Amino acid sequence: MMAKEATVTASSREVITVDVTLPGRRYSILIGDCLIAAAGEHITAVLPGARCAVVTDANVAALYLAPLKASLEARGVLLGDAIVAPGETSKSFPVLARLSETLLKLGVERGDCVIALGGGVIGDLAGFAASILRRGVRLVQMPTTLLAQVDSSVGGKTGIDTPQGKNLIGAFHQPSLVLADISTLSTLPAREFGAGYAEVMKYGLLGDAPFFSWLEKHWQQVFSGQGPERLKAIETSVRAKAAIVEADEREESGTRALLNLGHTFGHALEAYAGYSDRLLHGEAIAIGQNLAFKFSVAQGFCPPDDALRVERHLAKVGLPSKIADIPGKAPTPGQLLRLMAQDKKVQGGKLALVLVRGIGQAFVERDVPPDTITAFLKTECGSA
Ligand code: NAD
Ligand code: GLY
Repeated sequence: MMAKEATVTASSREVITVDVTLPGRRYSILIGDCLIAAAGEHITAVLPGARCAVVTDANVAALYLAPLKASLEARGVLLGDAIVAPGETSKSFPVLARLSETLLKLGVERGDCVIALGGGVIGDLAGFAASILRRGVRLVQMPTTLLAQVDSSVGGKTGIDTPQGKNLIGAFHQPSLVLADISTLSTLPAREFGAGYAEVMKYGLLGDAPFFSWLEKHWQQVFSGQGPERLKAIETSVRAKAAIVEADEREESGTRALLNLGHTFGHALEAYAGYSDRLLHGEAIAIGQNLAFKFSVAQGFCPPDDALRVERHLAKVGLPSKIADIPGKAPTPGQLLRLMAQDKKVQGGKLALVLVRGIGQAFVERDVPPDTITAFLKTECGSA
């Protein structure tokens, strides 16, 4: 990607703070439009004495690495940087191995910190590296995509993919600080912004019906970034995510599993599409959410009108909603079911799905019979 370095200056504009309080720990998520330039100040306040190694991808480096490094250098805490290739394929063992060695060569010690500057790929990869480096060093998340700002930078899930499936190797490693500089969204490609919007919608669909209704009215302003709506959508999403993480940090009680609305279908579709530009993660989640609503209707849990509203909204904002919207050959129901069986919610070989009783009313259904899903997928894959 050809990128012009973005102009980032410190200013005293509004910064919203959302705290995540966990047993014995607490960290803040700062949301504002001047946070790259002010990163040195914020990080040294939270992690005094820590030096910083920045991990980013080549696209983001071209735009935001220089101003971040300048801010860290001004405080005398910059160790260096590591740049990986953009894209999901960087969430892999070979890239993790190379990155871990680079961080050791940069001299990262136990008391130092890794900064993940980028989208969810960088957050997951750098976060996982931080969790295993010297048995764990501190982590600061600096998300630069909408998806990462509203979801992946908060809550401590980190990891990489394997040929068996997505995020199957990883660790919980909470950040010490999250700095979400929303000015970075101005350079995000429109398709990536849309993919992140699928995760924004998710918070309305899983537990906040009024938020979904608000998005139905204000999505255009959220997309355009004109007016206060984008910030409101990000803040609402982050507050929802923080509350869920506080309630169930390690996904043990079932509350955090609700964040996986659309993900069992979505991850399988993403794996089928080869983790490529054919289908972005957020686009897979958009289709997955629609399938979760349709499956809930088919099982008699959800009113058909609610599923229709979801499908219509996806169409309005330009997101895919059906398996047929994925370019190329459609998967067979058997292929999808095999990929769905790799889901982390599978227990004793039994598939669990996040389903809905309506918009804003998600729940976890355990032991969903494979035959029922196969019959549903036959219709959705166009092979019935
Ligand atoms: P991504 O990190 O691949 O970023 C998308 C693209 O945008 C990349 O090409 C990147 O270089 C570019 N980019 C990033 N910021 C930019 C900016 N400001 N301007 C211009 N270009 C920019 O993708 P993503 O959608 O952010 O993240 C997807 C990943 O997040 C998936 O691997 C998914 O599994 C993971 N995820 C993790 C969690 C979690 O809780 N840990 C939650 C949701 C998703
Ligand atoms: N994005 C799912 C989770 O954080 O649990």
